[in-house]
Amino acid sequence: MTKDQAKAKIEILSKQLDEHNYRYYVLAQPTISDYDFDMLLEELIKLEKEYPEFLKPDSPSQRVGGQVTKEFKTVKHKYPMMSLGNTYSEEELRDFDDRIKKGIAEKFEYVCELKFDGVAIGLTYKDGHLVQAITRGDGEQGDDVTTNVKTIRSIPLSLRGTHYPKEFEIRGEIYMPLKEFESINKEREELGDALLANPRNAAAGTLKMQDSTVVAGRKLDCFLYYLLGEKLPHQSHYENLLEAKTWGFRVSEHMARCADIDAVLKYIAHWDNERHKLEFDIDGVVIKVNSQEQQRVLGFTAKSPRWAISYKFKAERVSTILESISYQVGRTGAITPVANLKPVLLAGTTVKRASLHNADIIEKLDVRVGDTVYVEKGGEIIPKIIGVDVSKRAAHTHKTKYITKCPECDTPLIRGEEEANHYCPNENGCPPQIKGKMEHFVSRKAMNIDSLGGETIGQLFDSGLVKNIADLYDLKKEDLLPLERMAEKSATNLIAGIEESKQVPFNRVLYALGLRHVGETTAKKLAYYFKNIDALMKANVEQLLEVGDIGEVIAKSIVAHFRDKKNIEIIERLKNKGLKFELSEEQLAATSDKLKDLTFVISGVFSKFSRDDLKKLIEQNGGKNVGSVSGKTSYLLAGENMGPEKLKKAEKLGVKIISENDFVKMIG
Ligand code: IVH
Repeated sequence: MTKDQAKAKIEILSKQLDEHNYRYYVLAQPTISDYDFDMLLEELIKLEKEYPEFLKPDSPSQRVGGQVTKEFKTVKHKYPMMSLGNTYSEEELRDFDDRIKKGIAEKFEYVCELKFDGVAIGLTYKDGHLVQAITRGDGEQGDDVTTNVKTIRSIPLSLRGTHYPKEFEIRGEIYMPLKEFESINKEREELGDALLANPRNAAAGTLKMQDSTVVAGRKLDCFLYYLLGEKLPHQSHYENLLEAKTWGFRVSEHMARCADIDAVLKYIAHWDNERHKLEFDIDGVVIKVNSQEQQRVLGFTAKSPRWAISYKFKAERVSTILESISYQVGRTGAITPVANLKPVLLAGTTVKRASLHNADIIEKLDVRVGDTVYVEKGGEIIPKIIGVDVSKRAAHTHKTKYITKCPECDTPLIRGEEEANHYCPNENGCPPQIKGKMEHFVSRKAMNIDSLGGETIGQLFDSGLVKNIADLYDLKKEDLLPLERMAEKSATNLIAGIEESKQVPFNRVLYALGLRHVGETTAKKLAYYFKNIDALMKANVEQLLEVGDIGEVIAKSIVAHFRDKKNIEIIERLKNKGLKFELSEEQLAATSDKLKDLTFVISGVFSKFSRDDLKKLIEQNGGKNVGSVSGKTSYLLAGENMGPEKLKKAEKLGVKIISENDFVKMIG
């Protein structure tokens, strides 16, 4: 391929991918499969790697992230980002309507929109390209989160058509879809990490993450609802938003024009009922005067526009009886107290259980069995108990005593210094922990024994055949055949699957062991850093902290794991069975100590390697990656178009600046 051909191909692929993104994320009408999309994207990324001179800042490849922002720049808003006045009742809304009627003599209409419960964002476009994305901040100035926002697929990096203003700002709300929120929390629960409180906090937290690759992995989305600029195409808000949709923006299909306040009230009543069917959270409705001219006449107060207001839904709250409290034990031994309630209808579903979170919350609420409790469904998915109606408390109730022993195995519970939850420490003897650990051990990203499902694990454990993960490797076909629903063929497959798993590389075996807080990525980092399990088992907290991205909590938890004799015993048995507890020759060949004690900052675009490849190479050769240049940085690995700030700082601090070629020479 000649240079010109590559350039042309990159342009065609970018156009195609932009079009497919628009169809998928904005119109929700995809015309190709996810697989075909990924193939096109891969082709583009490969070409851009080969010809970095043609990589544009708004290429669809930028959606996958890669940049790290250590500190978000504070930027002043061109137009202040105001908030909205709130109303909570029909009466307050009618007062608003009266004020509007006083303010404008002629006829007017309203536009009603959903009030998305996320994080406000202001996007600036120049000549059809996204140039900046700023959070609300204090309304006067916000944080520049452009790099992270670029990973959100429904936000166009360059616009469609040619009819957009030369420069304008569009505002909207970035949110986390409920499904994504649930799946992240499920994973966090499995890892024993603290859960994200609600989708709004999750979106806000994600937007401020330093590593845009992680942001890209969390599927944030965005609705746009307000266009600002000197030369907007239409006279009304509604028409402007419809036009913005043709430029590629995602505008809610639930926006509606309303002739008067009664129509507005109908819209509100409808969505108060239907909101639980949406795939995202809303906390009310926003009502806006449609005409731009009338908006101008009405103007602004110091804090908010006079031409718009929000109506907030009442948090849905019901009262019911707390019948009992039960305690669940998770895979990592964390105890979750659960309230069993007299069934009650809340937000469209029957609620029988609610989370009580931990001992402190039970203590604070002084909630007792038999109490009438208030249950609320706020931003959280699982309803929670927010208070007790003490006036209804019966005479002889008892203060709730938190359990001191594990409900499953009777082991005394422990609670770490700064931890909210109690834990059952009987990792290797507590049934739900063992079964949960085994399910994790055989899962796809771990040992990948897909012939062994949750049900069979239950059977194996209950029949006493398998008491821990090491026992799996002692199983023989004859042991399995007497089990219910176990045919000859499934038994053969199961044994074969277990045997095959012995080829799984060390990093995945380490992940499969299921140490608290050690997910797939951390396991990989540890495996490449220590190279074998013996070195890892000997490491103390200080040594573990030397590994990139491992903090105090994880380090302490790893040390504690390997102090437990039972864990060592299991590892020894697995070793004897032939599982891989060290990096393979091939994996080792790709590693060295050449960069030991050296710290790198990567900036810019490279021609031979992607930034991820470079990061991996640094780690595999014993070095450490950090996001920003400081006095401790050994090298700034500089590519094309690198950030001028980083360069300046490196020069000022005397940090050595090296090219991709210098780096390749360093690692030989
Ligand atoms: S319009 C000047 N429309 O609610 C008017 N805001 O409490 C600008 N919000 O800061 C706001 N959905 O973050 C508008 N359809 C919608 C909205 C919306 C959610 C948020 C926005 C704003 C806050 C005000």
